Amino acid sequence: MSEGERLTELAKRRGFYFPSSSAYGGAAGFWTYGPQGAALKSNIEDAWRDRYVVKEGHQEISAPDVMPEPVFEASGHLDGFDDMIVECGECGATHRADHLVEDNTDIEEAESLPNEEVMDLIAEHGIECPSCHTSLADQPVDNFNLMFETNIGPGSSSPGYLRPETAQGIFVEFPQLSEYARNQLPFGVAQIGKAYRNEISPRKSLVRVREFTQAELEHFIDPEEDEPPLAEVADVTLPLYSAAAQQSEDGGQRELTVREAVDEGVVESEWVAYYLGVSKEWYERIGVDMDRFRYRQHLAGERAHYASDCWDAESEVDGDWIEITGFAYRGDYDLSKHAEHSGEDYTVFKQYDEPITVERATVDPDMSYLGPEFGGDAGAVADGLEALAERNPDAFDGDEVTVEVDGESHTVPVEETNFSVNEVTENGEHIRPHVIEPSFGVGRIIYTVLAHAYETDEVDGEERTYLDLPPEQAPTTVGVFPLMDKDGMADLATDIADDLRAAGLSVTYDDSGAIGRRYRRQDEVGTPYCVTVDYESLEDDEVTVRERDTTEQKRLPIDGLADRLEQLASGDLTFGDL
Ligand code: ATP
Ligand code: GLY
Repeated sequence: MSEGERLTELAKRRGFYFPSSSAYGGAAGFWTYGPQGAALKSNIEDAWRDRYVVKEGHQEISAPDVMPEPVFEASGHLDGFDDMIVECGECGATHRADHLVEDNTDIEEAESLPNEEVMDLIAEHGIECPSCHTSLADQPVDNFNLMFETNIGPGSSSPGYLRPETAQGIFVEFPQLSEYARNQLPFGVAQIGKAYRNEISPRKSLVRVREFTQAELEHFIDPEEDEPPLAEVADVTLPLYSAAAQQSEDGGQRELTVREAVDEGVVESEWVAYYLGVSKEWYERIGVDMDRFRYRQHLAGERAHYASDCWDAESEVDGDWIEITGFAYRGDYDLSKHAEHSGEDYTVFKQYDEPITVERATVDPDMSYLGPEFGGDAGAVADGLEALAERNPDAFDGDEVTVEVDGESHTVPVEETNFSVNEVTENGEHIRPHVIEPSFGVGRIIYTVLAHAYETDEVDGEERTYLDLPPEQAPTTVGVFPLMDKDGMADLATDIADDLRAAGLSVTYDDSGAIGRRYRRQDEVGTPYCVTVDYESLEDDEVTVRERDTTEQKRLPIDGLADRLEQLASGDLTFGDL
């Protein structure tokens, strides 16, 4: 069984996650998190919130999943959020063309290749339809838009889309969010929520699904002035696999500190480097195995339409590298597009330290001339003249000036424009912030953390499976068992479980089956500590506490038990210290 297969088996058996709606045959790419998975997910989201919202001092919002079409016209998703699709001429099954190439050749990032080249590679390598094994040579490779479309309200006059990234819910509200931040850069807005993509071929359980949770941060900065607190992570070592290394024969991964990566120009943006450093530490905290982790830079053809540079955090499972987070420098792409399409103001007013005096060219066109001359276009011609005066005052040097309105040239005598250049005092300027975006896929992180936590050993001559999850992430912190359901042991164990819950610990009570089997059940869901009440406990008010990874056991007083377990779980105390 592959690593992924045995994980999916454990996930279903123990209630981490399983395919949704299977009573009706299911629908590929939709998964339900069971009780263990939902608890793990919420622990990971809390750890993310703690690091990227609370510790960074950012704000969190919650925007709708459905947004109207103009949002995605502006963002570029309607036109450009496509994957390459190839349809089998024999059975009609559809497949992601770049993935077929990656699976059947040595090429690692076929997504960055043009469609025609992918079509040629399919023919050249004799790639077959995975469903019916007919050759896919000469089948066209087309673009397929990944957004799920819906109608807002009855009828079809108001199309909407399930958001393909949570980010747009932040960008579109920038004017409002900027006010909440008192129009002071830099500021960050985060969101944890669902994103939807109609993936061509969902696969590898949580890795490629059609509905998933993203945790995204949009950090708005003044690109001229703002600098990240790089010193805080300057010494963190990053495993970097740059685009240049990917393209060179002997290039490989390099271990550089954040400071070295910036100084050597391997990571161009200090802001991106800062978040790579912060995130490396965060991944370690939540249990990603750093020997199976790297940061890979996107190749030029692979970058999303909005990104000028992008690094992916990748984890290794089953020998494959999986993108778990994208770190993109989005520049002012999104805010500019929303400003252009909505006509709203997506800038921040930046106050100067001292007012400055500048020369400004202005016009005050004579509408009694423009009206009769240009009819319905007169207003647009006036706006065009105003913009032209700002952009290129020299255009007003002659007797006539020409402006373009909707692709048509209009000529106006300069004297009718009332063009003048005046000295004005300015207190500041409107600037368009740039955006740095770390975008985490929670499901892929869960898959990674579980795969990397999966361990086997031998206990009492039997093979044991356990998850060595960090206590902060484990769905349950303590399992409480009565040795037997008699002679008052169950009552005492129930009281202890209640006390531990009251102290805020996550507790599972289990009184069914042999004690060894109960330990195994908790081991398999990663519960770091188990507490057993036995006959002696009734006499000496002590219980047996067992640690998951070592299976070591110690007797501890019931009095103060919650404190001890909390200290163990938070790392303030080790089991050996007890
Ligand atoms: P891929 O190339 O694997 O399709 P992507 O580059 O499209 O991923 P992004 O658009 O950068 O991914 O999305 C940000 C994050 O959202 C990813 O790092 C990943 O963790 C998560 N994500 C994206 N698509 C999916 C999906 N279909 N299923 C699960 N998680 C996803
Ligand atoms: N917000 C980044 C992405 O989902 O593509």
